[in-house]
Amino acid sequence: MKERERGVVSGMVVLMLLFWLGFLFHRSPRFAGSFWGGMLAVAGTLLMLVPLAYLIVKRIPPLKKAATRRVSMQTLLVLHIYAGVLGPILVILHTGHKFESPLGVALTAMTLVVVLSGFAGRYLMNQFRQTIGEKKEILTRLEAAYRQTAGELADHPEQMAALRPLAGFSGRLAAGLLVATPGFGPGAVSVSVRALQLAESMADLEYAIKTHENFKRWFGQWLKWHIVISFILYALLALHIWAGIHFGLRWFS
Ligand code: HEM
Repeated sequence: MKERERGVVSGMVVLMLLFWLGFLFHRSPRFAGSFWGGMLAVAGTLLMLVPLAYLIVKRIPPLKKAATRRVSMQTLLVLHIYAGVLGPILVILHTGHKFESPLGVALTAMTLVVVLSGFAGRYLMNQFRQTIGEKKEILTRLEAAYRQTAGELADHPEQMAALRPLAGFSGRLAAGLLVATPGFGPGAVSVSVRALQLAESMADLEYAIKTHENFKRWFGQWLKWHIVISFILYALLALHIWAGIHFGLRWFS
């Protein structure tokens, strides 16, 4: 289910970026103010308000209780995600690529940033979590194999002595070269080389896990940023609507 959601949402995000990039080839200064341009703006804005409704329902307990009697928060989140991409697609079509006023440009840029931040938080964070889990599993297996090899090594003091010069930084580099030597298939390796190979793999894995965990920590702040930039987007949107009504009504009077 989640895979399907990711596929569909990725396709929609690519479509949104393609529609936005259309400004390189096309510009229609009158479309945004036309009937169809206006319809796209209203529909897109209503859809973009769905994530705001999600925030209100999620954070006001009586509303959350009433809503979750009929539909799960998970379903509401999926609704937020689809509305949060479809709305921006419609408002980008509404612009007719008329990116002239600073407010219009800022509003379009913020819309793209909020959608991309939602996308990154929803799918990349999960990817990190999954990758770390898989790597930790492999590391546990390698550690068990290493413990067994270390036990075997204890029965071969001469091989243990051969490993001693490989301790330390330069020794570790030399060990890397030794381990990379062709012809050392699993059947052919001595206990000491097997121990070196396992230690090398474990060090690489630990490094990869640490890097992924750093990304995960960084992404831990993600929701806060997603909310902050969403509110900047809503403020710009309100200003844009106010300007449209203000100047629109002035033209009529
Ligand atoms: C117009 C576009 C969007 C706006 C204005 C928006 C706004 C928001 C807001 C205000 C929240 C905070 C909800 C809360 O925790 O109270 C939120 C959460 C979230 N958003 Fe968006 N969002 C948009 C698009 C997207 C998209 C396109 C995705 C994913 C592809 C997405 C994924 C998420 C996720 C995963 C959460 C966390 C939900 C949770 O943990 O409860 N958002 N969004």
